[in-house]
Amino acid sequence: MLLDILSPARVLFGPGSSYRLGEEARRLGKRALVVTGRRSLTVSGNMQQRIVTPLRQAGLESIFFSQVSAEPTVDIVDQARKLAQEEQCEMVIGVGGGSVLDVAKATAGLFREEAPTRDYHAGREITTPRLPWIAVPTTAGSGSEVTNNAVLINPHSSLKASIRNDAWIADVAIVDPIFSMVMPKKLTAQTGLDALTHAIESYTSRWANPFSDALSEKAVLLIMQNIYTAYQLGRSREAREKMMLGSLMAGITLNQVRVGAVHALSHSIGLKYGLAHGLVCGVLLPYVMEFNYPRVVEKYANLAYQSGIASPSLDEKAAANRLIHYVYRLREKLQIPDKLGTLGLQKTDLPDLVKAALTSTSLEANPRMAKREDLLEILEKNLV
Ligand SMILES: [Fe+2]
Repeated sequence: MLLDILSPARVLFGPGSSYRLGEEARRLGKRALVVTGRRSLTVSGNMQQRIVTPLRQAGLESIFFSQVSAEPTVDIVDQARKLAQEEQCEMVIGVGGGSVLDVAKATAGLFREEAPTRDYHAGREITTPRLPWIAVPTTAGSGSEVTNNAVLINPHSSLKASIRNDAWIADVAIVDPIFSMVMPKKLTAQTGLDALTHAIESYTSRWANPFSDALSEKAVLLIMQNIYTAYQLGRSREAREKMMLGSLMAGITLNQVRVGAVHALSHSIGLKYGLAHGLVCGVLLPYVMEFNYPRVVEKYANLAYQSGIASPSLDEKAAANRLIHYVYRLREKLQIPDKLGTLGLQKTDLPDLVKAALTSTSLEANPRMAKREDLLEILEKNLV
């Protein structure tokens, strides 16, 4: 067996772990660019209490970049890089959802590079070392705090893709579930389904191995058992903590064995119709699971047995089907639409969307070979 395991450098996990931000940041430098989203962190009071104050008390100078919105572009990264350079920052701290963390990651990663971000997005080689950076996720979804890639949109070429670099994994990930307790229901559902998709797709990845399986399987179970409680009872600390742990574990494993056809399709669809990544993943997940079913019966069945949705006496095929039906039902309970058609998917767009998906590296990890006709069929089922 040959394994190539890429692990996060350091992860601090648990309620209250963000109070260690100051001491961790102090180890890495004195002047930080703090990348955040536009509003929610400030409105919740977490910005002052859990970010600004600990950094000030640790003697750090902070420069704030709060321009990141959902689905960030290469141009936003250029702005953040410019500010970091002008202010001579020594490190970057990203506090937010996957979009914010991806911008922080790319800002640190390209700090010493000269060319615009769009060039690296198009494949230009990165030759300089990054700035130190700390990831503080506020949602349980992307896993970006422990991954090596930043998903960005180039609005000029209409391409949504990752810049990927093994050296870009954060120096420290501070994963404090307290941040996620203020997430509204819709965001909880969408980010949670993204995390569930990471866990299931990595578990059934073509490159899955015993090391990744251990993490992916546990991640699936943690998310399955807590997503609905986190959605219904947002202040449930236990559910939020377990969702955050599941998302973190799925992030570590997807970094090693990648994801699959859901993710291959989701980037081009999200970009075309301006839809949130987690939403597209949530709608597509059971359709892709049905497609993959013949190749992963044993693994789906195992998840069904382990989670208790199928009794051990049920045969594997029936148990695997239970898992797919569970995901359909879960989606409904989380008020996620049944088809992408209700979100704008048009029949005339399908060939271009499939063409874009076929270039995605995520497709290589899908357990069942997905050809053009297969992806078309999955999307045709999504038309209203
Ligand atoms: Fe994702």
